[in-house]
Amino acid sequence: MIILAPSLLSADFAALGAEVKEVQDSGADWLHVDVMDGRFVPNITLGPPIVDAVSKHTSLPLDVHLMIENPERYIGDFAKAGAAVITVHAEACVHLHRVIHQIKELGLKAGVAINPGTPASAVREVLEDVDLVLVMTVNPGFGGQAFIPSTLRKIRQIREWANEVHPDLLIEVDGGIAEATAPLVVEAGANVLVAGNAVFGRSDRAAAIESIRSAATQ
Ligand code: DX5
Ligand code: ZN
Repeated sequence: MIILAPSLLSADFAALGAEVKEVQDSGADWLHVDVMDGRFVPNITLGPPIVDAVSKHTSLPLDVHLMIENPERYIGDFAKAGAAVITVHAEACVHLHRVIHQIKELGLKAGVAINPGTPASAVREVLEDVDLVLVMTVNPGFGGQAFIPSTLRKIRQIREWANEVHPDLLIEVDGGIAEATAPLVVEAGANVLVAGNAVFGRSDRAAAIESIRSAATQ
């Protein structure tokens, strides 16, 4: 089963309530929320108050992707704001194992993300602890960038390890996902697909979601 998670980064921030409702009615499974601090990545987006406001407009699970330094300081706030999944970057955590368990102790799904330049081995020791591994398929910071094909090898490697130690591990991909790239990442072993521009960049969101889903499951 493929989980499709439109990324709010490409939505109209001045009309978030309506945007969220529209993708929910259009068949989205999760909502992906990109949190950036201007330090870990060269962009600043939003924080817990916006997540809290969005949560009041949807019943979809909120998939919060923290592209921030010292994420352990904010996990409680994002949990209170209504996150269902919290993903931290391996590159941003000195004590990755501890942070993952901090998320799980709050009753949420825990994810670990890696940038395109970070090897698969960075998540190997926590594969049994996490619910989800997020393989970044672009360098994080902005929507609308081109998919980096070398990340496919990494998805395959992580799926191979997961088959041995954690068969129901979710592997999420984020960046440049659209009709052309969805079948490639699914074939490599991904089952959670984030799409920003490919959903919010089109006026017919239902058609966009449907065509990415059918490309992914063909
Ligand atoms: C990139 C973000 C993504 C972004 C993806 O830093 O983590 O979630 O919104 O956007 P698209 O799908 O447009 O590449
Ligand atoms: Zn993201």
